[in-house]
Amino acid sequence: MTQYYSIQGGRRLEGTVTISGAKNAAVAIIPAAVLAGECCILENLPAIQDVQTLKHILSRMGAQVDFTRGDCMRVDPTAIHTVDATFPEVSAMRASYYLLGAMLGAYGEVELALPGGCVIGPRPIDQHIKGLRALGANVYIDESRNVVRAQASKLRGAEIFFDLVSVGATINLMLAACKAEGQTVLQNVAKEPHVVDVANFLNMMGASIKGAGTDVIRIQGRKKLHGCSYAVIPDQIETGTYMIAAAATRGDVIIKNVIPTHMEAITAKLLESGAQIVEGDDGREFYLRVKMDGRPRGVNIKTAVYPGFPTDLQQPMMAYLTTASSNSVVVENIFENRFNHVKELRKMGASISVSKRTARIRGVEALRGADIHATDLRAGAALIVAGLSASGETKVRGVEYIDRGYEHLEHKFNALGASITRIEEEM
Ligand code: UD1
Repeated sequence: MTQYYSIQGGRRLEGTVTISGAKNAAVAIIPAAVLAGECCILENLPAIQDVQTLKHILSRMGAQVDFTRGDCMRVDPTAIHTVDATFPEVSAMRASYYLLGAMLGAYGEVELALPGGCVIGPRPIDQHIKGLRALGANVYIDESRNVVRAQASKLRGAEIFFDLVSVGATINLMLAACKAEGQTVLQNVAKEPHVVDVANFLNMMGASIKGAGTDVIRIQGRKKLHGCSYAVIPDQIETGTYMIAAAATRGDVIIKNVIPTHMEAITAKLLESGAQIVEGDDGREFYLRVKMDGRPRGVNIKTAVYPGFPTDLQQPMMAYLTTASSNSVVVENIFENRFNHVKELRKMGASISVSKRTARIRGVEALRGADIHATDLRAGAALIVAGLSASGETKVRGVEYIDRGYEHLEHKFNALGASITRIEEEM
């Protein structure tokens, strides 16, 4: 059996939606919990496939991992009995690379199936490896088995200057270095909200990490950390997806449980395109209200590391801009091959030309429904945005990618007046 989404498009989104915990923070924080050496309670986790996969991976290694309620997980690493993480679930998700830093820090050893995940061009982990080696780990890639092995009798603090800004390498090095002897200084690091969230979680465990959210992170290693309770931040990318979908359907949506400062690059571009956005605080949480009348104006986007426009929202934003009243240019600076959604959008009537990392979009009056295929998680989000705004029925295939990162997507959109049905069909 395989599944697809059937979307009856052209309905204005209206109402209120609540954002879930951040996927990219959760997928680092769950493996990071093994560093505590004691039980951790993780709250506000999103109900997504990647979280389930990590639960399965840690359980298979001997940890006791249970959901105590919907969004709350208890991770007890005390019974972990193996450093072997070479089974298929590990290579199925890219973020399993966080087991490298976490297991090295906690147990001084790990063997990991090399990560897979979304198909968005080559995604090396050379910066992770360079950093771990600088801490004194022996890291060896066994290409015949597609496995990376890392071992260190003792991790020692070091100064590491990353050749490029990498979210994954920044977090992996924080994980390992918080148990290294002495001080580690990480330079040219990522500043994304989930980097700060992971640092806050590690500090709650007793780590000493300063500077997360700036270009330089200083970590004073500790012999021992301890268990704690921690609530994950709201998802910046899910928030942006609902903001864009609200504008794309000429809707009026209140998005709750958000951190407006994380959204500034997206808010600025939506405002430039003609949307109205109001930030508010209802006394319990922050919200954003996004309202749009008529066609957007074209805008130019260049993806960049935080606080720039996030690459993960480039694809949904492009779907929105396909029906702009003027032209747009989108430059993808982070990943080499992140335009897989373009040929699917063209099937819906979009006019987009691509040259290397630049896409030029000539706005058309409207999109029409089509049978289209998501090839990665955020391409999936883009096709959902396109289907919601198009006339007629859109079938979005590749639902398994979307399930990796969006909690209850069809329920949340349908509560806003959309019509999305998950359909099972014979292969
Ligand atoms: C993370 C996010 C992903 C987001 C991306 C960029 C998670 C789980 N995933 O992915 O959603 O799209 O950040 O914001 O948080 N690179 C190297 N060598 C390395 C590491 C990275 O060349 O060792 C390159 C990558 O190929 C890419 C760029 O650096 O071109 C940025 O990658 P990175 O920030 O590491 O992304 P991820 O951590 O994989």
